Amino acid sequence: MTRTHAENVREDVRNLIHPYTPLNTFGATGPMVIRKGDGVYVEDDQGNRFLEGMAGLWCTALGFSEQRLVDAAIRQMKELPYYQIFAGRSNEPSIELSERLLAMTRHLGMDKALFANSGSEANDAAVKVIWYYFNALGKPEKKKLIARERGYHGVTVMAASLTGLPYNHADFDLPVARVLRTGCPSLYHSTHPGETDEQMVDRLVADLEAIIAREGADTIAAFFAEPVQGAGGVIVPPAGYFAKIQAVLKKHDILMVADEVITGFGRTGNMFGCDTYGITPDIMTVAKALSSSYMPISATLVSKAIYDGLVKGSERNGAFSHGVTYAGHPVASAVAVEALKIYEERDIVGHVQRVSPKFQARLAALSAHPLVSSTRGVGLIGALEIVQDKDSRKTFDAASGVIARLGNAVLENGLITRALRDTMAVCPPLIITEAQIDELFDKLTRALDTTLEFARGQKLVA
Ligand SMILES: Cc1ncc(COP(=O)(O)O)c(C=O)c1O
Repeated sequence: MTRTHAENVREDVRNLIHPYTPLNTFGATGPMVIRKGDGVYVEDDQGNRFLEGMAGLWCTALGFSEQRLVDAAIRQMKELPYYQIFAGRSNEPSIELSERLLAMTRHLGMDKALFANSGSEANDAAVKVIWYYFNALGKPEKKKLIARERGYHGVTVMAASLTGLPYNHADFDLPVARVLRTGCPSLYHSTHPGETDEQMVDRLVADLEAIIAREGADTIAAFFAEPVQGAGGVIVPPAGYFAKIQAVLKKHDILMVADEVITGFGRTGNMFGCDTYGITPDIMTVAKALSSSYMPISATLVSKAIYDGLVKGSERNGAFSHGVTYAGHPVASAVAVEALKIYEERDIVGHVQRVSPKFQARLAALSAHPLVSSTRGVGLIGALEIVQDKDSRKTFDAASGVIARLGNAVLENGLITRALRDTMAVCPPLIITEAQIDELFDKLTRALDTTLEFARGQKLVA
């Protein structure tokens, strides 16, 4: 019997290792296979259409069919499909991209760009840059890194070590040494009931001070933070958090690394999360929306002081011996240049500022739903907490099947969101219109209503 294309795909897909999936569970249905996309929508291999409420993995700022990005890739493929940027060589798209990126981040103190392919690599490179820098400065003891609970910085050995999510560590023998952990600014997840935002911030600042006092400031190199924590549950920092944290870091000569892999390029209603939260970074990492994710590319941006340190180190070592084969890849760089041009020409930040009040209002309104205990968000990113009981915030047992039912109900309604355990994240392409925001939240509301009926049928909620 001849098999359909879809059946072939489903068979072939068993040859892949699927991240964040119990690897023994693919026998029954296989994954959802996405075949094409247009605007904020994607379609699977069965012809089902979905509003992509997560922009993939918090990625495609310009949606799934931006012709200018396609054309930029084709033009560059024809001109020069690959060249490297090692040892006195370069290519024009990577030079133009670095100029554009630095023009956009100079007000934040950035002075040089180091390219790679993924957010994880960009954060790994940030760590290497920091260690190299302090060695060049004659401070070889200043090497430890502070990162936060629920932080997500990627999955390479060092980035996963910075990541503060236990499931990224379990059985991978991580985190490696030199990583110190501090709390995240989430009142919802706080283990100190009754705290106000301000009390929580003061507690976190005191915790940071205590870590520094315990370890010694001369052993601590840098503090890593996402302006808004994404994969850890969309944690939006309260007012004053970064100002107070940065005051402590500055006092102790500890570098600030802003991981802007999700928040960069308009997501929070300003070009960078650093702008939204008044962060003055020494290093910034960017990826995802840098090319609207049409090509894999990331960058580690560094201040002049850091760069001067690297120069000093490279004089001592004879070279700055770090780089990856595809760093500054001309096709990825050309696509990223085009994405940055589009952000500017179409005033993507202005668009986010115009449509995000509706997004945030519709998100906040969901907190009235019997299954939602709390919502939070900024710009075009947000999350809701799914609970069995709103007062106690008791969550559903996995065995009850309610969260799985919600996941299916979201899909049945033609929507893609992301379940981070009991937190549901929403992070649509930045080009989403107000009408599509209504569509997204109408679909989500219907999915929640279906799930509520299911939970009532199981006598799990009144
Ligand atoms: C804030 C943040 N940093 C780093 C990464 C890692 O990026 P990548 O998956 O491209 O390695 C991610 C990925 O989701 C991220 O959200």
